[in-house]
Amino acid sequence: MRKNQYQHQQIALVTGSSSGIGFETSLHLAQNGIYTYASLRNLSKSNEILGYAKKDNLPLQILHLDVTDKDSTSEAVDKIIAEKGRIDILVNNAGYLLLGPLEQLQINEIKEEFETNFFGMIRLIQQVLPVMRKQGYGRIINISSLAGRIGFPLSSAYVSSKFALEGLVESLRYEVQPFGIQVCLIEPGVVKTNFINNIKLGKSVVTSINDSGNNNDSSPYTEIIQKRISAFKPRFEIGSSVGEVADMVLEAVTSESPKARYLVGEDALKMMEKRKSTTDEEFARIVMNSVLGKNN
Ligand SMILES: NC(=O)c1ccc[n+]([C@@H]2O[C@H](COP(=O)([O-])OP(=O)(O)OC[C@H]3O[C@@H](n4cnc5c(N)ncnc54)[C@H](OP(=O)(O)O)[C@@H]3O)[C@@H](O)[C@H]2O)c1
Repeated sequence: MRKNQYQHQQIALVTGSSSGIGFETSLHLAQNGIYTYASLRNLSKSNEILGYAKKDNLPLQILHLDVTDKDSTSEAVDKIIAEKGRIDILVNNAGYLLLGPLEQLQINEIKEEFETNFFGMIRLIQQVLPVMRKQGYGRIINISSLAGRIGFPLSSAYVSSKFALEGLVESLRYEVQPFGIQVCLIEPGVVKTNFINNIKLGKSVVTSINDSGNNNDSSPYTEIIQKRISAFKPRFEIGSSVGEVADMVLEAVTSESPKARYLVGEDALKMMEKRKSTTDEEFARIVMNSVLGKNN
């Protein structure tokens, strides 16, 4: 069993464990001896992860948790404390991509994006901090993105939620390090998950695409939207594996001196290298070619 400096079995809480990165990370932590609460907002999706956990007799328990619901987050944390008396690791993972040009996104759609990707993470951080502070130990691992470092067309809501997370973590680190709490960002490039199937298109964006055959009311963004959507699928087919992200989370959890940021995937590493060596104008061309295909 993996122990912290107090020689307890470590206790982890992961959000968004129904699929993708959260699913794999929950199993990976449990496979490494960490008692893992794999949380889902929809418990009817728990059979697959429970099947793996039972087959290998892993220390993993399912928990209901919707990150947009204050009561749900506090009930989940209270249950863990009642059962285990501590929380050593929080993996803030739940999130989705709202796609569309900013002009066509509704404010309530952008607020919903932030409710999950940003305020959802804050809710959990605020719930676990008093516990970790009393323990004098904690690791808070936040799944950001390459999109937390650079912007992409038609992703302004998602990108800004991840940029906000990056700023939050960069500031929070100073506040909590004196209490033995480390806060990290995981920044994957494209990862093969259900993410692509769970993309939300803004309502007005859907309407404008549907109207694109109608000459009277065609959207000025239709062409770029269609290029972006058709360029998505091939990019996801060659993305990193969830295992690479889960390995990086484990590295952040177990390292004696965890880094502030962990980039994951060749695509993310290459883009950040290019970002450092190009002007804004040169880099904008690289981004356009990368996400819309050549000759965009
Ligand atoms: N895949 C990528 O290319 C990529 C790249 C960089 C960063 N990321 C980040 O990685 C994280 C995980 O994404 P993924 O790729 O694993 O996608 P995914 O397969 O779509 O998984 C997303 C998870 O988040 C959950 N979720 C969404 N809203 C929630 C809420 N309100 N409360 C609790 N859970 C909620 C989903 O639950 P349901 O099943 O109930 O919907 C699902 O379990 C996200 O933060 C994403 O921004 C992904």
